Parts: sequence; structure tokens; C-alpha cells
Amino acid sequence: MTSPTRREFLGGALALMSAAGIRLPIWAQTAATFAGSSSAGPLLLGVDYYPDQTPEALWEEDCRMMAEVGFTNVRIAEFAWALMEPAEGKFDFAWLKRAVDVLHKHKIAVILGTPSAAPPPWLSAKYPDIVEVNEKSERLHPGGRRFTCPTNQVYRRLSLAIASEMARTFRETPGVIGWQIDNEFTLGSSQRCYCNFCQSGFQNWVRSKYGSLDKANQTWGTVFWSQTYTDFSQIPVPLPSGGDPNPGLALDYDRYQSYANVSFQQEQLDMLRKSCPRHFVTTNNVGLVDTINMPDLYRNLDFVAFDNYPSFFDMLMAQQGRPGSSAFVSSAIPLGHDLARSAKGGKPFMIMEEQSGKAGQSTFSPQPEKGQVRLWTYQAVAHGAMGVNYFRWDTATFGAEEYWHGVLNHDRSKSPAYDEIKQGVKELKALGREVLYSNYVADSALMFDYDSSWALKIQPGHFRLAYLDQITSWYGAISGSHSGIDVVAPENDLSAYKIVFAPVAYIVSEKQAAGIRSYVQGGGMFVTSFRLGAKTESSQMVRTPLPGLLKDVMGVTVADYVPIYSAKNGVKFSSSLAGADAECSLWMDALQPTGAEVLASYTAGSHAGEAAITMNSFGKGKAVYIGPDLDGTSLARVLRSFSGMVGVKAPLEAPAGVEVTARKSGSKQWIFVLNHTAAVQSVNVPGTVTDLLTGESHTGKIELGAYGVRVLVV
Ligand code: GAL
Repeated sequence: MTSPTRREFLGGALALMSAAGIRLPIWAQTAATFAGSSSAGPLLLGVDYYPDQTPEALWEEDCRMMAEVGFTNVRIAEFAWALMEPAEGKFDFAWLKRAVDVLHKHKIAVILGTPSAAPPPWLSAKYPDIVEVNEKSERLHPGGRRFTCPTNQVYRRLSLAIASEMARTFRETPGVIGWQIDNEFTLGSSQRCYCNFCQSGFQNWVRSKYGSLDKANQTWGTVFWSQTYTDFSQIPVPLPSGGDPNPGLALDYDRYQSYANVSFQQEQLDMLRKSCPRHFVTTNNVGLVDTINMPDLYRNLDFVAFDNYPSFFDMLMAQQGRPGSSAFVSSAIPLGHDLARSAKGGKPFMIMEEQSGKAGQSTFSPQPEKGQVRLWTYQAVAHGAMGVNYFRWDTATFGAEEYWHGVLNHDRSKSPAYDEIKQGVKELKALGREVLYSNYVADSALMFDYDSSWALKIQPGHFRLAYLDQITSWYGAISGSHSGIDVVAPENDLSAYKIVFAPVAYIVSEKQAAGIRSYVQGGGMFVTSFRLGAKTESSQMVRTPLPGLLKDVMGVTVADYVPIYSAKNGVKFSSSLAGADAECSLWMDALQPTGAEVLASYTAGSHAGEAAITMNSFGKGKAVYIGPDLDGTSLARVLRSFSGMVGVKAPLEAPAGVEVTARKSGSKQWIFVLNHTAAVQSVNVPGTVTDLLTGESHTGKIELGAYGVRVLVV
């Protein structure tokens, strides 16, 4: 008798469990269908498909071709509300059922999207109040998508109704394995709604947060400009009002809007958990986004999913006339992956939409270079993805996204990236779940705080100071050390990290300060920058010398904080950070040590000779204050010297433009080496390594072709 294959074994085990009455999650069954590993995680290597936009006569051919590529799943229907509910309360899922059946016949599993991001015209015509009001107080118009108010009860009720009907219809349908709720919450033309429903939603939220009007008035400081509220119904939303809004109220409004979107999602999630307990549930957003609190958004979902469009991002930056935008994009994309992974504590995530060709709505983004789509796929996996769906199968010949290229061109021929997508899918299946569900390795952390980001948007202090920009340039500076970076919230336990970077930690609450203090006391290195702790969590200025609650930890006081416009300043380093003088623009905090060692001083202006960078020993650890906004080269050099001091190590050293990350499972470790350049690059390796993609061994050195990838076992 021959021993069973793993696939037969797994199939048998599943059959036994189901005979014993154990109802497996459907994704485990799908895992068995696409067997190759005994892990229960789904193998999600698929594509976003629009049967609703495709003549039914082509579905069969589409599915056959998708199966040929090797796709395991599709995501469908997230914008098909008008077809599924042509009139209020009249549902038609027959077409969708037929589409799912054809997909299933070809062993392609289905993630269903609930369609609330694009309500049909009958709905907005009948209930015009569901439409969002933007930050200029203009009511948007139906005709696009994502034009809705997250608070409006009618919209929420009708969104839940269509999602519930879908769930009821498809909960036992073979092939359906999971759900995407809505599509990219908050990512419309305006990210906040300011309508009357949101105003009263906000008033209720304030009532439950503060309990009394007195408390709210006090927390916001409404005595300023005679804004004392004597009834909750007087509380405004931060719309144009002849003068800037109260900063505390405006920050709370950002918190409310994030909450409103998350609670809107939760209604659909509660229903799906009841109706479809064996399906997974997620939603898609983009990686680097601060319009909604991502840990809140994903807290109750099964895994993070997000959309990744590197060259579209490049085009957007260029459109905004951003200097050095490609350097920004090359940091923003991996940072987006790390943010998404970290939003659920490091759990492997999915790319729900991966760019597969030229992207764009009214203008085209650049065509990805040959090899780049495969490289982006591996970049996601290198940062912790367990699955990748490409956007989209065919390229639309009508509608607002005719320029957004899929796996097939407009004429249904194969796109330039078709072959590399097919190759990537095959390779990732061969790597299997053991690699795809392994853990990302990081010994550094980057602190990301929504409150600081929102508060700085409300009052940037300098018109060019933006939290996301600072976070991204710090990420770019430290990522060159290839040590792996987790993104942490200020209240997270930091003790797992050798070093924590926290640029522009503008708001620091007492709880956060306590966490940072005990991290440093316990031996961690905390590296932060200008504006540290300038505000309380209510967005009031602190009443003590800066850096407020962290003065003792940092061992300095801020002698002056200085926005920089035309005049530049310079920074000279002491021997322990020796290097060329740095340029300083945008901002400088001049520091007065109260125990900290001075590592650099300003060279010009009225603060010439005063401390610019300091390091304090506190407990068993160190706290570093970087007062100036340093030029990119100096920032990278300085931040990496601190990483060096605490012994942060890269799995491999790599030249510029080559990225290295590691993932591990138990005692196994995989090193990803990604060449983001068009040139051939080489990397030194210790002894002999095996590249899992080619099966070849290499000793001493390994080469990577243009946009090439290696997955190494050392
Ligand atoms: C994503 C969105 C998709 C599609 C794609 C291309 O942001 O989720 O629905 O619009 O971009 O624009």
C-alpha cells in the first residue's frame, strides 16, 4: 500500500472531522482543495473580478483563463448594489449565483464584497440625505462612489439590509469563503462628513465621552472666543467659521469620524458573524493612511487586507509637484505594508488589490517595468503578506476606471505583466503556507500615532510640517538598516524592541509617557524628535517646560522651538556621532541639557552653539532627542548610528536600492532580497545559501537581476 499524499491525508482528516460533526471554517476546506500544506490558512493568490461588468458569455472563458494563471480566488460584487437590489427591497442574486457557480466549477473560491461604497441612484434619489457634506460645507453629488455619510441611519440600515440578503443567499453556497465589507472606508474625495447627522452623532459621542457639558467645555477650553456650550445641541462640527476651529473639538471630530466608520462596519460584521460563521471577514484600505484608525478598523476582523498601487502613488506625488517623490514612494510602500501588518499585531495580511499594470482614472500612471509587478508581490510577502489579489482581471472599457489596467488588456489580450503574475503565483504556491503564514522579524519599531497626525493637520505649526511625511522620511532613513520595522502605537508594549523611533510625537498622554518611561528604564533606546510632548491628549498646550511629561526621561528642556522658512540652519556633530555637518530646515528645537549628553549643536542663528541632538541615560536605557529637521542623508546616518549602538543587525547587508527582510516560523527563517533597481546587484551571503525560487545554492555572494527577487534559506 502506498502512503497517502499530504493532499489525500488532509482531505481524509477533514472528512473525518466533518463526519464527527465538527464544522470547519470554509477557508480550511478551501485550503484542502488547494492542498499542499496542512495549515488551515487560506491560500489567497487571486484577482479582483467584475462579472457584473462582463457579458455572461465570457464568464466561462474568464474562469478557465484565471485557472490557467493559477488563481485560487476572486473578490467580486463590491460595487454591484444596483444589480443586486434594483429597487428598494427587491433583490436579485441570480446572476451572482451563476457567476459564483462558474468560478466554483473552475475551483476558484470567492470573496464577496458588500456593496455599501456605491449606493444605487434609486437610493440617493429617494434618500438624498445620505449624501456626504465635505469640509467646505458643500454637499457632494451622487454619480461617483464613496459619497455617503457614515452616520446616516437610513444609509446604514439599507447597507445592512443588502449585506444581510447577500449573506443569507450565499452562506452555504459552495465556493464562497469570505467577505470584504464595503471598500476603502474614508477614501473618497473628502475623508470626513460634516452633515447634520454627523453633527448630532458627534454631539452624542461627546456626551458619552465626557459625561457632562462642563467637562467638554473645560477639556476644549471653550471660554476662548466665547464658545461655551450650554446645550449639547449647540456643539458644532469644524466647518469654516470665520476663524479656525477649537483644536480640541477638531481633534475629537477626527476621532468621531474614525469611530463612525468603524461602527458602520461593525453593524455588517455582527450580521456576518451570525449569518456566516464559517466565512472569514475583512475589509480593504490602503497601507499608509491616517484617515481612519487602522487598528480599530481591523480589531474584530479576521485579517488586514489592503490595496497597493506603487506607480499610481508615484504619479500622485508627481502631480502634487513633490520634490524627490520617488524616494518618498519607495519608503511609503514598504511602510504601508508594515503599518498594515502591525494594525493586527503582526498577523499575516492580504493585499486585496495589487497593481498589475498602468493605473489611473483620468491620467495614466507609469507602466511598471518588466519584473516590477512580481517584485511588488514579493515585497508584500517579504513584509508579511499571506495572500495577494491583483487588480483587476480584465481592463474596463467603460466607467471611470478605463485607464486602470488589469491582467488582460482592453482587447482581452494578455497584459505585459501577465507572465510574471503567472510565474509569481506558481512560485508562491510552491513556497506554500509555511512561508506565507510565517512571522515577520523586527527588532526596531516606529511609533505611529493618529492623534499626533490629526492634531498636526489641524495646526501644523509650519505649513510644510506633516506627520505622514515625517514618519515616511524616518522610515526611509531607518529601513536601510534592514533590521525589520514594526509600527507601534504609543500605548503598545515596547519591550520587544531594541530601539523605538518616534518622530514628532506631538501629543503625549500620561499613559503613553508612562509606557515610554518604563521602556527606557528597562533598557530600551527611545529616539524622538522636535515637538515632543507639546500637547496633551485634549490638544491643549502643556503647562510645563517642554518636553512636558518626558522631561526627566529625555534629560533636557526645550529652550526654544523655531519654525524655519527662508534661513537655513546647520548642525555640527560631536565625536560620538562624527560626520559631515548637517543641514536643518523646516524646524529646530534648541535644547538645554539637564543631564543628557550633547551629540550635536546648531551652527547658526541666535541658537548657535546650543544643543541640537542629545542622548540621556535613564534607568538601563537611553533617550535621544533630535531637535532639528535634518537633511535626508544626515538623518539616515544619525538614526542608523543609534541602531548600531543597540546592536540592531540586518539578516544580510545590501547595497542601496536592495531591500532585505526576514520571516520565520519556529526555527526556520527565510530571507527576502529584493532588487528595486534596473541594475544587476549583488549581495554577500554567509557561507552557502539556497534560493528557494530556483533551488540553486550560492556561496559567498548572490546576484540579483533587474527588479529581481531571491528567497533564501541560510
Ligand atoms: C482602489 C479601489 C478599487 C479601484 C482601484 C483602482 O482604491 O478599491 O475599487 O477603484 O482603486 O482605482
